[in-house]
Amino acid sequence: MEIKHKDITYTKYESIDEMPADLRALLTHAKTAAKLAYAPYSEFFVGAAVRLANGKVVTGSNRENSSFPAGICAERTALATAGHQYPGVAVEAMAITVYSEKYEAFEALPPCGVCRQVMNETEKHQDNPMEVVFSGMKGTAIRVLGMHNLLPFSFNLKAR
Ligand code: THU
Repeated sequence: MEIKHKDITYTKYESIDEMPADLRALLTHAKTAAKLAYAPYSEFFVGAAVRLANGKVVTGSNRENSSFPAGICAERTALATAGHQYPGVAVEAMAITVYSEKYEAFEALPPCGVCRQVMNETEKHQDNPMEVVFSGMKGTAIRVLGMHNLLPFSFNLKAR
């Protein structure tokens, strides 16, 4: 038996102003997307924006449903839209942000496990690691490079 460790690396920003301009711009797109969220049940409005290798920015927001499991998170909305509109084009960066008066959403809020798994599979199909930044209402943000820093144990199917 052996106890092992996996390290993750991330950058923490105390304010969005500390962030490189390209990521700040992507977060602004995510903020705009959060305003378009359809989240009448949770009142937790999430926005995501992805920048693709062809320079396009594609956004998504959470889309809820009265049959709760039918809803979808902002991150997966953005990735599904990008994958459909620009098949095979790599996702260079993703920004995620949230707005809520009902729930605690001040600090940087990481994407849920299901979205991480989908983000992981997106990255698997491209040569370069994905850059991910997430921020809360206060403006603090966390940035990671590569999904191994967000999902150290990912599920991957490998053909025999
Ligand atoms: N949500 C997202 O859009 N992204 C996440 O990573 C976590 C949660 C949405 C789902 C639901 O509409 C609302 O936030 C509350 O869970």
